[in-house]
Amino acid sequence: MIGIKRGYKGLMEGLTEEMGLRSVSDIITRGGTILFSARSDRFKTEEGMQAAVRTCREKGIDGLVVIGGDGSFRGARDLSLRGIPCIAIPGTIDNDIACCDRTIGFDTAMNTIVQMVDRIRDTTESHDRCAVVEVMGRGAGYLVLGAGISCGATSILMPEIPYDFERDVIERMKRTQRSEKVHFVVMVSEAIGGVEEMAKRIQKETGVESRATILGHVQRGGCPTAADRILASRMGYHAVQLLIAGASNRVVATQNDRIMDFDIYEALNMTKEINTDLYKMAMEISI
Ligand code: F6P
Repeated sequence: MIGIKRGYKGLMEGLTEEMGLRSVSDIITRGGTILFSARSDRFKTEEGMQAAVRTCREKGIDGLVVIGGDGSFRGARDLSLRGIPCIAIPGTIDNDIACCDRTIGFDTAMNTIVQMVDRIRDTTESHDRCAVVEVMGRGAGYLVLGAGISCGATSILMPEIPYDFERDVIERMKRTQRSEKVHFVVMVSEAIGGVEEMAKRIQKETGVESRATILGHVQRGGCPTAADRILASRMGYHAVQLLIAGASNRVVATQNDRIMDFDIYEALNMTKEINTDLYKMAMEISI
């Protein structure tokens, strides 16, 4: 077993280390990665790709397990094409992998957001305020939708669902004010941004004192939830089984709690829809 440090960058540069059965001792409780991570433009070139293949040949690496998102999958596909068997595992807090219901990290990030917003809610409650909270997710709204429902947000704004600020935030707040609600949480995807301006506008139009919070990178670290530990264990196990069976160019996925795998080409061409029923439900029950 060989660990490759800093992803494809390390693979090109030969940054590898021998790993044994105890190399992963005590990491089950940790966030981050003991092998570190990196972004690399060189790997997108043929020269970089050949350097990666060379490391595999020199170190006797006859199969790779790659953890990441779409970009990592494209790299795994390209290496598979060059004769290095690769199995990809979806690891991203954004949950934006089309072939997969749940990616590793999503549940942990969502639970962190819920914990943080629960804390923010204490001030909204004691001070009769509105908290406008920006949540990560790059271009995808899965985190803000799941966390928004879990936090009882009055409004949830995300890139997949068009919104009208007046109708979907201001009017909703005014309506709930009539039922004597005095504190509010509005959750906004980072893909939309602008939470400071939103807070000012809410204060001006509703009279409710408002504050903006950008949660930022707290969402991307920390102790993994049980659901993520189980998912990662199942996916890692499946990836190794695939390599032993001689498979290549596959991505491990989960659908309806079943672990499966897809051809990476196929997986990259799939599209994932946000669950609009979930959004509609959130808007109906949060009154
Ligand atoms: O893809 C994971 C993610 O955390 C996104 O949610 C976010 O947009 C991005 O990474 C942040 O990247 P960086 O740490 O480079 O700012």
